[in-house]
Amino acid sequence: MARLTDIGWNEFHALPLEAKRPYLERVEGEGMPYHTLFAQQFDRPILERLCALANRIRFINKSKEGALYLKNVLAHKRAMLYFSQPSSRTFLSHLAACQILGVTTGSVRDAATSSEFKGESHEDSIRTFSSYFDMIIMRSPEQGLAEKMSWELSNSSRPIPILNAGSGKDQHPTQALLDIYTLFRSFEDKGSIDGKTVVFCGDLMRGRTVRSLSYLLTNFKDVRQVFVAPQELQVPDDVIAVLKEKGVEFEVSDDLRAAVRIADAVYMTRIQDEWDESKGASAKIDTSRFKFGAEELNLLPKDGIIMHPLPRRDEIATCCDHDPRAMYWRQMRNGMWIRAALIASTFGFERSIMDCGY
Ligand code: NCD
Repeated sequence: MARLTDIGWNEFHALPLEAKRPYLERVEGEGMPYHTLFAQQFDRPILERLCALANRIRFINKSKEGALYLKNVLAHKRAMLYFSQPSSRTFLSHLAACQILGVTTGSVRDAATSSEFKGESHEDSIRTFSSYFDMIIMRSPEQGLAEKMSWELSNSSRPIPILNAGSGKDQHPTQALLDIYTLFRSFEDKGSIDGKTVVFCGDLMRGRTVRSLSYLLTNFKDVRQVFVAPQELQVPDDVIAVLKEKGVEFEVSDDLRAAVRIADAVYMTRIQDEWDESKGASAKIDTSRFKFGAEELNLLPKDGIIMHPLPRRDEIATCCDHDPRAMYWRQMRNGMWIRAALIASTFGFERSIMDCGY
């Protein structure tokens, strides 16, 4: 039995991501995460279960009776939203997901307003939150912090789940879930995600959503991944290594228009200049050929879709916003449903929601 209480931090931390998975499950062998830290915790059956649950929650919530039923499901739980990095969508959609299920919430959105400012360690802060709450949803600029905190909490007297809402440049598993849910819904009547070509464009080097989604896509059959970026911002080696190991077909390119012509989905991303080592470094990179505008819209196949984790700057022209293939607005709302599904599953309420009479 793999339990975080039976393994030291250094030993756990050194494991390959896939080997960490059993330690993070709610019930070992059942697959569903307890702590959600990275995309490697999700295989196809789990993704399909979560998408089905998100669809179910979305449907139940349509009637007042259904919405009131959902509001009661986790009315006995409290969640802490601990966001020490900027966020609008991820914060609000987790908040809305909690509200759908009746989870009451508290938040810290700025370390300067918490005792960390007085020198308190992350470990002590997290243990403080766990005294008052039943789940911590956290975003941090520090890669690996959510993982460390989940080990700490599992080894404390109040083991509560952690949900990673973005960890540095590394991972953003719940964004990848909502991206998969969006692809799942978009291609439901078009033979599923299998066999599709997904084009990633923009800052693929520092975009954590790209790493997490690229991994999740490896769960599907014959999905081709194309990475379009200026050389300085191309997809990092660790992402490519995973694709090679899994035998996934991929291409690295600097020609967005050629990629758009064969795309089923184009996933645009923002230049992540907050990570620049010297101020203004990104501004010196020529990104002009890595933007989606009217020309690209014309080249996109009629069943193709445009996605973006948002926020956007100018990498998608606003003239694309009303095209039926622009999926980025729906993506946001999908995030609320899939996060509600994940939170309900984390607390063991998947079956009862699936089987309820609504
Ligand atoms: C992304 C993030 O924070 O990584 N935003 C989000 O969560 N929707 C992408 C970004 O900031 O560019």
